Amino acid sequence: MYNNPIGIFDSGVGGLSVFAELIKLLPNENYLYFGDTKNLPYGDKSKEELIKICSEIFNFFEENNVKAVVMACNTTSATVYNELKDKYSFKIYPVVQSVSKQIALKNYSSVGVFATQATINTHAYKNEIQKYNPHCRVYETACPKWVNIVENSLQNDKENIENIKFYVESMLLNKVEKIILGCTHYPYLLKTLSKFAPSNMFINPAKYFSEFIYNDLKNCNLINYKMDFEPKFYVSHDHEHFKKASELFYNVKDIQEINVSKIML
Ligand code: DGL
Repeated sequence: MYNNPIGIFDSGVGGLSVFAELIKLLPNENYLYFGDTKNLPYGDKSKEELIKICSEIFNFFEENNVKAVVMACNTTSATVYNELKDKYSFKIYPVVQSVSKQIALKNYSSVGVFATQATINTHAYKNEIQKYNPHCRVYETACPKWVNIVENSLQNDKENIENIKFYVESMLLNKVEKIILGCTHYPYLLKTLSKFAPSNMFINPAKYFSEFIYNDLKNCNLINYKMDFEPKFYVSHDHEHFKKASELFYNVKDIQEINVSKIML
């Protein structure tokens, strides 16, 4: 079983920010990364649409005999994880629920959350953090344009810099100690975000998330320590675009070339 693949998915390149952390701790796994570029963005989709989309992705991973699925996507973790969690035999790791305890135990008095509209609508980060630290004030803000900015490398456009500035400065008015980047695409904006607040204010949950997954797989004797696999990348639309976008952001040194296949689910 420990030899079986790990599935990881997101709406596009965003999940690579999780993947990059995961392979540092779990370098010998057989990874299948699915970027659902056909259905991007997830952040403005309904719960029903996201259940349908995720069920198809999970069926694809099931056919590939995965031992675990990493829901790198905050939006689907917040909206549909509870609906799907008992329907499959493999392990499912949802990012929001997996990292909130570790963040809450830092005992911050107040944190901000930037995420997609769908994630913010659920108050998933606020609810999960306050479960472990009821005194922590959590300020949540949706940043609807940011996924598009990242997917299309538009972070240097004047109008987009103004947009990012507006959200950071508005959040700082709440006197937050930290700001959680609650969408996997947002860590790619760190350079721009850091123009308006110190870079160490921003939390990229990917590090906490990969530690959580590592510890859980270890406890279950499911880590693959020996093999050497090339990760496989799949997209549902426009693999050239994904390849270009991912090469820009994907800075894991060991892998020179990303081979991307287009599949229909
Ligand atoms: N990157 C995903 C997330 O973490 C989804 C972004 C989107 O497609 O709207 O929420």
